[in-house]
Amino acid sequence: MERLQKVIANSGYTSRRKAEDLITAGKVKVNDKIVTELGTKVTSKDIIYVEGKLIQREEKVYYVLYKPEGYVSTTSDEFGRKTVLDLVPNSKRIYPVGRLDYDTSGVLLLTNDGDFTNQMTSPKNHVEKEYHVKLEGLLRKEESTLICRGIKLDTYKTKKAKIKDVKYNKKNLTTLATITITEGKYHQVKKMFEFTGHKVLKLKRVRFGAVTLENMRIGEHRLLKPYELKQLKNLVN
Ligand code: URA
Repeated sequence: MERLQKVIANSGYTSRRKAEDLITAGKVKVNDKIVTELGTKVTSKDIIYVEGKLIQREEKVYYVLYKPEGYVSTTSDEFGRKTVLDLVPNSKRIYPVGRLDYDTSGVLLLTNDGDFTNQMTSPKNHVEKEYHVKLEGLLRKEESTLICRGIKLDTYKTKKAKIKDVKYNKKNLTTLATITITEGKYHQVKKMFEFTGHKVLKLKRVRFGAVTLENMRIGEHRLLKPYELKQLKNLVN
């Protein structure tokens, strides 16, 4: 079930504001009945006419992209940098589910389903995100424990995290590790390690829920498989 004005806006007919005006002005019909109530919800089976024109419902699509470094996770960039949409040519109005930094690579989901995006990015829903990190310095056990318990950053305390596969390069004084978190605040992983004095030199997201980079090459995208989508939706239900 989706709000009528949202369905009209998503079809590309007009903006959500204008769709609301058209509804209240009596210009919208749902299954041959004029609807003027703004809260009206419709399903994919309802037939909608706006100013006498049939609204084409946009089919929902879900992609995973193996994002390379050097791309912004927005639909456009004020500095003219390349965006992840340059890598997923599409006639639908898709956008990234959350963000990966310009210099972060890895699993990035893209969709035109706003409800799915909200569910996936809500910290209430505990969708696991796993990252491979390369850190400056040698991460001590106590620092790792501190991060995993939750630390106070800016205005919030991070939820429990898991760190595994810690490997040291004693010659270069760097650490490789895998961290799993269930949130996705701005620069979160970088800030968590920087809290203990370790700069993140490289960051790659290797898993989002059940979705991994398996068999994908950098810069490549594909549709989510039905079981992957189902697993992600089940996680939040
Ligand atoms: N945490 C970060 O700091 N950056 C990302 O891109 C993703 C998670």
